[in-house]
Amino acid sequence: MSKNVLILPGDGIGPEIVTQARRVLELVNEQDSLGLEFSEALVGGAAIDAEGVPLPETTLEAAKAADAILLGAVGGPKWDTNPDFQIRPEKGLLGIRSNLGLFGNLRPAILYPQLAHASTLKPEVVSGLDILIVRELTGGIYFGQPRGVRVKEGGIREGYNTYVYDENEIRRIGRVAFEAARARNKKLCSVDKANVLEVTVLWREVMEEVAKDYPDVELSHMYVDNAAMQLVRAPKQFDVMVTGNMFGDILSDAAAMLTGSIGMLPSASLDVNGKGMYEPCHGSAPDIAGQGKANPLATILSAAMMLRYSLDSGATADRIEAAVSQVLDQNLRTADIMSEGMAQVSTSEMGDAVVAALKG
Ligand code: NAD
Ligand code: IPM
Ligand code: MN
Repeated sequence: MSKNVLILPGDGIGPEIVTQARRVLELVNEQDSLGLEFSEALVGGAAIDAEGVPLPETTLEAAKAADAILLGAVGGPKWDTNPDFQIRPEKGLLGIRSNLGLFGNLRPAILYPQLAHASTLKPEVVSGLDILIVRELTGGIYFGQPRGVRVKEGGIREGYNTYVYDENEIRRIGRVAFEAARARNKKLCSVDKANVLEVTVLWREVMEEVAKDYPDVELSHMYVDNAAMQLVRAPKQFDVMVTGNMFGDILSDAAAMLTGSIGMLPSASLDVNGKGMYEPCHGSAPDIAGQGKANPLATILSAAMMLRYSLDSGATADRIEAAVSQVLDQNLRTADIMSEGMAQVSTSEMGDAVVAALKG
């Protein structure tokens, strides 16, 4: 039986990196007889330009019908000043996440040993790093109501958002994180701001309640400011971290740098049944778009996660990850992970190298 993979290239470097990931997917599809069928749709700025909205109805329907989705990135300066905040590229991405209920965002920060010197941190701080950030993705301050900009007394403008989680939302992301920790090193650190924000006082309480079902997992709590500091001081103290939408967004970009570059960090965004959208953690990188400089590995590794989590093809995912490692062994580096003695390659040359490694 065939499986439908929807590809959403998006904006900026999105199309460049997705092209390389698609080449990889098409190759393994043939090699391993996976029965994947690919289609593409518009999202983000590309959709605004073509259809006037960041998430056309046809794209949303295709996303719902797909077995899995691979997204590049959305956004860029061209659309940043659009006066209607609903007509922004990022709304397209957020719309898919919320309409499909993709609440569980897994962001694994793994250091390939070949990149120990690419990180801005000392090699001994990052070598052997393997942490997983579990980010709640469809709630919190990103989606809370009310929100907006209003004019208050005296004609003063006031912007406001609402940071809200109910206990069910906290419990279900808690379970995702505890399950992940159980399958790894059984250590879970929940990150909050329970010294200031009531919503995270509840977050902490509910995490403690969920912990009762996971006596084999050691739960700890950390305030987010300390967590940011600890991530760069001694990141290997962490196994799995679980946190809300905004803290997870920020901490995962920081964690990305531990792996050498944000161009190395993949992600999976899953619903209650394990259906998902897969995307690099980075954005559309307008500063390097169209120049062949972008690192496609985060997207290629996201495609591997897609095969593992949504397409029942874990062995193929392992092969892709091994191919990435092999390419790094060949000393090939895009600009973002370049270091002395290595050979600098373009986005498509990096794709070529992964394809060649998979062909063996
Ligand atoms: P960004 O992640 O796009 O870029 C930050 C820096 O990292 C830039 O210097 C960029 O060149 C570099 N970078 C990112 N990905 C890279 C890659 N694969 N290879 C090499 N270098 C890479 O973040 P930003 O500049 O804050 O945001 C740019 C746009 O992207 C904004 O419109 C933002 O809203 C959007 N964005 C989208 C997503 C997404 O679609 N998932 C995620 C983050 C940001
Ligand atoms: C990410 C991005 C998105 C987020 C933006 C583009 C909406 O930064 O996927 O990390 O904040 O979730
Ligand atoms: Mn982000």
